[in-house]
Amino acid sequence: MGDTTAPCVSEAPYAVPTGVALLTDNGEFRAKFNRTDFLFDHGLAGHPLFELPALAELANRIPKFRDFVYWQNGRVNVNDKWDANPAPRLSLEETIHGIAHNDSLVILKHAEQDPLYGPVLQEILQRIYSFTSPAAQADIVLGESLIFLNSPGRKTAYHLDLESNFLLQIAGEKLVHVFDCADRSLTTDVELENHCGGNHNGAIYKPEREGDAHFYHLTPGHGVHFPSMGPHWVQNGEQLSISININFDLKSIHHRMKRIYRVNRLIRRLGLEPCAPGKSPMKDALKDKMWLGVSAVLNSVRTAVKGRDESMAYPAWRPAPVARVNGAQPV
Ligand SMILES: [Fe+2]
Repeated sequence: MGDTTAPCVSEAPYAVPTGVALLTDNGEFRAKFNRTDFLFDHGLAGHPLFELPALAELANRIPKFRDFVYWQNGRVNVNDKWDANPAPRLSLEETIHGIAHNDSLVILKHAEQDPLYGPVLQEILQRIYSFTSPAAQADIVLGESLIFLNSPGRKTAYHLDLESNFLLQIAGEKLVHVFDCADRSLTTDVELENHCGGNHNGAIYKPEREGDAHFYHLTPGHGVHFPSMGPHWVQNGEQLSISININFDLKSIHHRMKRIYRVNRLIRRLGLEPCAPGKSPMKDALKDKMWLGVSAVLNSVRTAVKGRDESMAYPAWRPAPVARVNGAQPV
């Protein structure tokens, strides 16, 4: 007799690769994690779990909290905003059903908590975590997954993420354009202040810098890593594209740098020029503490006005400690 409290999901009639068949350490995760972009291979190319019928069922199961499911209808340009919706708005069901021809993007988040998808996505998260260096592992706070469905020929507009990204191509092709995460002449401190302040369109595309991008032609079975704050945009190929994005939140970014940029945004609004993160440890520490105080007050006010945000109580994947024996690298 099974667990009668578990959600009703279809039984997967196929084997999902595990262990090294799912993801192998190519030696670059340790040296390059969150420093620079690199390619890797995985074992989920064309897997039925990531085909449309199964993904449509997943979309039905995902809790409909704010930001758990996102979709955009109509073609966008590289410099468009996330809230652009240039075609008539379709329902999520209509969008997924017709994604092969309706010029849309669907993002399904937190599938790592789904009973059917959770085991494979959590194994990817843990394997990537175990491939990274001890310093990186100490910095990783939590991980999450996003599944992207893109209509043929569609672009994903230029943006950056604070999370450290691993993009795994499952079906179709993508040309991924990735820029240097540390280049402040490309992504200015003002852009990062805006992004950290909640503007997901904070990064501004600069066509004259296109030549500085690294290009990755992703086909099924291949993936690319790009660090937090590495701006990117994507040109999807001529077939439906399905990919998985594995993200990691980092203490150094989400618990520190983000707070400093938020305080700097306030300082700039007062007409002053703030000191960028990393230039003065003393000022950084002061701003970190300041934002902790400010955010405690803001959160109290928000909860009092709007009530508790249920999505904040949703489970998050957190890494299991990696055992090391005589310095051996775990897998
Ligand atoms: Fe992204």
